[in-house]
Amino acid sequence: MSHDFDRLYEKSRIDSTAFWTEAASHIKWLKPFASVLDDSRAPFVRWFSEALCNTSENCLDRHVAAGHGDRLALIYDSPVTGVVAKLTYGELLDRVSRFAGALKKLGVGKGDRVIIYMPMVPEAVIGMLACARLGAIHSVVFGGFAAHELASRIDDAKPKLILSASCGIEPTRIVAYKPLLDKALELARHQIDHAVILERPQSPVALVAPRDLDWRAVEAMGELTAPTPVLSTDPLYVLYTSGTTGQPKGIVRDNGGHMVALAWSMRNVYGVSPGDVFWAASDIGWVVGHSYIVYGPLLNGNTTILFEGKPVGTPDAAAYWRLINRHQVKVMFTAPTAIRAIKQQDPDCALLPDHDISSLAALYIAGERADPDTVHWANRHLGVPVVDHWWQTETGWPITGNCLGLGLYPIKVGSPGRAVPGYQVEVVDEAARPLPAGAQGSIVVKLPLPPGCLPTLWGNDQAFVDKYLTEFPGYYKTGDAGYLDDEGYLYVMSRTDDVINVAGHRLSTGALEEVLAGHPAVAECAVFGANDELKGQVPVGLVVLKAGVTANPGEVERQLIDRVRDDIGPVAAFRKVAIVKRLPKTRSGKILRGTLQKMANGDSYSIPPTIDDPAVLSELAGALATLGFVPAQA
Ligand code: COA
Ligand code: AMP
Repeated sequence: MSHDFDRLYEKSRIDSTAFWTEAASHIKWLKPFASVLDDSRAPFVRWFSEALCNTSENCLDRHVAAGHGDRLALIYDSPVTGVVAKLTYGELLDRVSRFAGALKKLGVGKGDRVIIYMPMVPEAVIGMLACARLGAIHSVVFGGFAAHELASRIDDAKPKLILSASCGIEPTRIVAYKPLLDKALELARHQIDHAVILERPQSPVALVAPRDLDWRAVEAMGELTAPTPVLSTDPLYVLYTSGTTGQPKGIVRDNGGHMVALAWSMRNVYGVSPGDVFWAASDIGWVVGHSYIVYGPLLNGNTTILFEGKPVGTPDAAAYWRLINRHQVKVMFTAPTAIRAIKQQDPDCALLPDHDISSLAALYIAGERADPDTVHWANRHLGVPVVDHWWQTETGWPITGNCLGLGLYPIKVGSPGRAVPGYQVEVVDEAARPLPAGAQGSIVVKLPLPPGCLPTLWGNDQAFVDKYLTEFPGYYKTGDAGYLDDEGYLYVMSRTDDVINVAGHRLSTGALEEVLAGHPAVAECAVFGANDELKGQVPVGLVVLKAGVTANPGEVERQLIDRVRDDIGPVAAFRKVAIVKRLPKTRSGKILRGTLQKMANGDSYSIPPTIDDPAVLSELAGALATLGFVPAQA
């Protein structure tokens, strides 16, 4: 075991005040904190309370003031446009500071919300940091979500302004964002003052005055603007994520605790020093993008990479190796699904030897369960540790994971490692009693959560308590199930709720069911996740039509697929739907989604004793077979 890891873990457990005070010394505070942890309003706890600070200042000004203005801050590498552009810390500060000035002129100030619906271009990062500079709260919405999802976030966040672009670029098509934004604004009850639109050469855009403004014209009117001091506990951003219903949850992130935790994780978890190149191949619409494309690397003085491309198809399965070589990446972060995509196209990794990846010290993976085959494949070909680690939008930084900066302890493939300093992870039964090693149960984190984790849900303190803190008193409920082994390694096996993970993207089956149920011909439906070789899981829908509906079943299925694409977005990858006569239910009327999932996965299953009619299952086996599944016998 790593000596440093054990020592620091114990310190974080026994004297968390000393541990986090030391970590906080890496951040510039404009007024020192009165207490490290304020639990006077528990379960609502606050880190570094009463301190004043500014996240954009810590990401930019601090490094420039220390003489590192010429160091590369951001590399934009976009195989879909053929552009590679670089911004130093000095240049990024200048653009962020001016853009903050421009937003200020448009009336954006401390506490105002700004939605960012943008592709992976530097302006998106500039927008995020400019909001942070003003103390405005950004809420980034992933570009793969459609108008309806965007509208629900607009209504919840009630932004003053939206930052967007004319289009995103997918390998096979241009995704025009402006029509999606216009439709979302039609659907939303809340109305905004302005939409600032970045016109990209790939797609011109028609601006509707006076609401729509041209990004470049707006940026040009900005003057250099000093960072606004905010309280450590003021929100930096809200990021919506899927829960059990169609209503997304607004995860709140504060300023002070977030900075301390992320800066600590860059040095200690990922083991990078200022000046090192760190690359998280994710999207700024996800938490990985927030934490490890934008805030973490910049807080730590690293060079970060904004990659507008895919692991395959832009143009080939060597895209990752090419970038590691070109930019001398030291540590990379991606999702297992991306490695599976590369492995599928280039099984022998024949494209790798053309690229010198000797700068790479480790590959970190997260976002979904890492199958051992994929880990072994990457490890064999890259020749560096492949480190699985586990976390969630809610926590904002790793809960468990091997820490390169503290000296790696032995890796056990299949486990995302041991609890990271700051977290106490346990596995409990339904009565919140800790279970012995090897026993499977609900994975929980002992309260209080460390800095950086969500202090609440946006505008809904009660839902925060109800969803996360009530079922297991004294613990935060992660929604994952699994077990710990006798050396404290965690094994994450499944979710305990309706969340599924499609190509590393978190989706709610409840949200998908709401969309299907909205079709006029649908009486009832069930959506569950089935195993998929590339994406980990894909959603599957089984639908019962209303009595008397005579529509062509194939036509209805096509409409349902289009409906999910239009309402939730292409990211749902919803392609498997079948119309069936009945759904399997318990005698009390609960749909047996777990049994359906086992059937689709070809897993053995037993007929639940509570089922109202076992014959339904054999009927459904046929429907699942038409979708390409091979159900096992009960
Ligand atoms: N804007 C608009 N559309 C988007 C989008 C975006 N930002 N991102 C994805 N989409 C669309 C895709 O074009 C695709 O549409 P299609 O149905 O017309 O083909 C759909 O959403 C699904 O996209 P994706 O999940 O990317 O699947 P894919 O089959 O195109 O590619 C992978 C498969 C494995 C290559 C891809 O999922 C991937 O790179 N995954 C990495 C995941 C990741 O980074 N997760 C973040 C957590 S670390
Ligand atoms: P998200 O909030 O989108 O980051 O998704 C978080 C969820 O993804 C977790 O609760 C897990 O279900 C899953 N997840 C993330 N990382 C891992 C991992 N390393 N192993 C297994 N599941 C993971």
